[in-house]
Amino acid sequence: VNHLLGIKYITAADIELIFKTADHFKEVINRPIKKVPSLRDITIANLFFENSTRTKLSFELAEKRLSADVINFSAAASSVKKGETLIDTVNNILSMKVDMVVMRHPNPGAGIFLSKHIKASIVNAGDGAHEHPTQALLDSYSIREKLGDVAGKNVVIVGDILHSRVALSNIYALKLQGANVKVCGPKTLMPKYIESLGVEVELDLRKALEWCDVANMLRVQNERMDISYFPSTREYTQQYGVNKQLLNSLNKEIVIMHPGPINRGVEITSDVADSDQAIILDQVQNGVAVRMAVIYLLASKIKQ
Ligand code: CP
Repeated sequence: VNHLLGIKYITAADIELIFKTADHFKEVINRPIKKVPSLRDITIANLFFENSTRTKLSFELAEKRLSADVINFSAAASSVKKGETLIDTVNNILSMKVDMVVMRHPNPGAGIFLSKHIKASIVNAGDGAHEHPTQALLDSYSIREKLGDVAGKNVVIVGDILHSRVALSNIYALKLQGANVKVCGPKTLMPKYIESLGVEVELDLRKALEWCDVANMLRVQNERMDISYFPSTREYTQQYGVNKQLLNSLNKEIVIMHPGPINRGVEITSDVADSDQAIILDQVQNGVAVRMAVIYLLASKIKQ
């Protein structure tokens, strides 16, 4: 069975194939009829054990654009609340002749664990602070679209690196494609292993922005912290928030990204988030084509 559990488990060639396939689907979803009949024989279950707006709707739309049958499961409104295990929950859903599972879960490694116990393709839609592979793919796809290529570009990921699955998956994806990657944020929000991933730590935001072509701004994930890691939100914003004044003081124009959800006025001000420098909504738009590509490629293996 084939899965997309993390960028760690795929190759540069896999990413190139996903992007070429996404290019085709991007053209498809810009047609008056945005659907193709490719997956009429495939049923997909979207299992969300953690909240989502973009990823959940983007996967559902991607699946429907491919003509798959789709069922949606939200843990909050399910029998998980009555004590049913993850394996039992998923096996019950699979017994309804489901071929593929898209899963978001608060526990790191939930998809990897599940892949050892079920007989269906799994796409990881975010597992705790571990990986969010389709987010990293749509991020790189958006850089490629904006700047022509990912190879050789200087990309800084700014913010709460410690709790961010977006950061880890982006680091793997960007490095695979030959980008130069730095991370920037408070020391308290840097994982100890970060330099072993081949990225440089820059604690000074201005220096990081002066170096980069692209800055990917992350939200501080307060929901994953037992204690306050950084003295205050105000201090975080003063040291690691981007605003128009700061960007205008650089001697070049950089591309601003954000995976969403944004905390306006904390890591990014509205005058930056809503500016032409930001490609935040392009990222969301590209997410549908990239997820269509991932699902299509995995489904073609199910059909073999
Ligand atoms: N970027 C992202 O994963 O957003 P959601 O949590 O809304 O899915």
